[in-house]
Amino acid sequence: MCGIFGYIGKREDAATIVFEGIKTLEYRGYDSWGVGCVPLTKSDTLILKKRVGKIGNEDVKDLPKSTLAFGHTRWATHGGVTEKNTHPHLDCTGTIAIIHNGIIENYDTLKKQVSGTHTFVSETDSEVATHMIEVASSAHPFIEAVRSTFLQFEGSNAIIAISQKEHMMVAARNGSPLVVGFGDHEQFIASDASGLLPYTKRIYFLEDNEMAVLTDDAIIILDAVTGKEKHITPTILTWSVTAANKNGFSTFMEKEIHEQPIVLEQCLHRSDIQSIAEAIKNARGAYLIGCGTAYYACLAGTYLFSTIAQRHINACVASEFTYQEEFINNASLVLALSQSGETMDLIDAVKRAKKHDASIASIVNVQGSTLWRLSNLPIPCMAGPEIGVASTKDMTTKIAILLMTAYDIAGHTKEGKQVMKQVLASVKNIFEKDSLNTIHAVANHFKTSTNLFVVGRGTSYPAALETALKIKEISYIHAEGLAAGELKHGAIALIEKGTPCIVFLPHDETYSANLAAAMEMKARGGYIIGISPQQQEAFDAFIEVKDAGTGTIIPNIIVGQLLAYDVTIAKNLDPDKPRNLAKSVTVK
Ligand code: G6P
Repeated sequence: MCGIFGYIGKREDAATIVFEGIKTLEYRGYDSWGVGCVPLTKSDTLILKKRVGKIGNEDVKDLPKSTLAFGHTRWATHGGVTEKNTHPHLDCTGTIAIIHNGIIENYDTLKKQVSGTHTFVSETDSEVATHMIEVASSAHPFIEAVRSTFLQFEGSNAIIAISQKEHMMVAARNGSPLVVGFGDHEQFIASDASGLLPYTKRIYFLEDNEMAVLTDDAIIILDAVTGKEKHITPTILTWSVTAANKNGFSTFMEKEIHEQPIVLEQCLHRSDIQSIAEAIKNARGAYLIGCGTAYYACLAGTYLFSTIAQRHINACVASEFTYQEEFINNASLVLALSQSGETMDLIDAVKRAKKHDASIASIVNVQGSTLWRLSNLPIPCMAGPEIGVASTKDMTTKIAILLMTAYDIAGHTKEGKQVMKQVLASVKNIFEKDSLNTIHAVANHFKTSTNLFVVGRGTSYPAALETALKIKEISYIHAEGLAAGELKHGAIALIEKGTPCIVFLPHDETYSANLAAAMEMKARGGYIIGISPQQQEAFDAFIEVKDAGTGTIIPNIIVGQLLAYDVTIAKNLDPDKPRNLAKSVTVK
């Protein structure tokens, strides 16, 4: 969702730094953008540049030299996609500007308090903040004005305000993520840590109800409720700068898909599997929760725990978890899966589970994120930065972690590693030239289709759901994933001559029943794309995936990712920034 990037310090190209910063946040999804700066040369007001649409080939060369600037990518909620509604928003004097993420739920009431004497130019909820700060700063220092304004907001919000007069940037958060970066005579703020990597690895994620005051030489963290300074220890990021580059690939998603053999191999050397296993063993009632792709990793987990460790774990979409929370108590374990650690529905579910005294374990890619901090047992996913909107390497890494945990619970840790080695061999095979060419040709075949089905049983069921999700989110082909057994209860009515039907057919206990599903679809004219260790008469197209025992779901999902990716490129679409979607969904 909306992205924030701010700079204050020794360099005079603050507007450009900020512009480059918001470009690194483009993947979060946005429909307009803006940059505001305090000019070095004498000026009565801040200077803004706002545009509707994507950044594309735009630049900010027309903005003046500056050492204090901030920028925003907006995802419209209150008010349409117009330049006026784009952030930053100025106060009536033009010397105070704000950018805001989230929703000020009581903005209507607040607006009534200032609207008589102040002119509103936008339809946003956000603009009320700048006028409230303007009013408060006539009687109080700027920091205090921002603090008292922020404390009146209801809802999940992150706000950054710049004062031209006091030459500082003040931020506060409750719900929406904000991370500050400590530099050498320069300070940064952003809604996500990866954008800070080129400048600093010393960062701090603001907690709810914390404020940050950024000046040329320091960042001070305050408790927003008391106004008192807090002593914090910065986190040192372990990600490398190149990890957040495309590294020769044409898109982030392509790069992230291709990183999987390396990232998965690293799973073999993890030393934290036992701690998750212990937490599950000690719990009376364990729940896997997540959103989107992370939820499908949860679903895969239920199969793995039940077949490998003979343990029943419930999986639930995080946004639905609320309606099941009566079962949660102080003996329950909630295992929350997330790439960003900021997805609002998940954070909400975790907070509610905490109110029931449940223990929270999490597997999360962004260390230090909100989910990370809320967890009693946060486990780093260690997939490296994931920038493409559609989650890929994070998900397969999570499944690998769950697989090894299931073996650990069963007391068969070594066998788990053996299975992972089979997984790696199978995954490496997918990335061989011939295999990539086959996948490419199959994807090309269905690029003009409008409807597609993906089926599987057992762990191939979450693989089918995930493959369908990937195809629809980036290529916009309507794709439905389903348990093969459910075909005849509805979806088969939609299969006609030429409908692409992807069938996962690993050599496991699902083999015969899955093959029967392929035959049923073929009998109705379906074009059968078989993903299996061996060719079958029923297949019109065949993609070989070598069996990897209980871990076959991992290579199967990777083939699904590649099919989705290739068809998207064949349709001339941008897989990194699919329409209407955001990487980090920080609103409900
Ligand atoms: C968005 C992304 C998905 C992701 C989901 C959950 O919808 O586009 O790829 O799976 O959010 O995100 P999380 O960061 O919690 O894993």
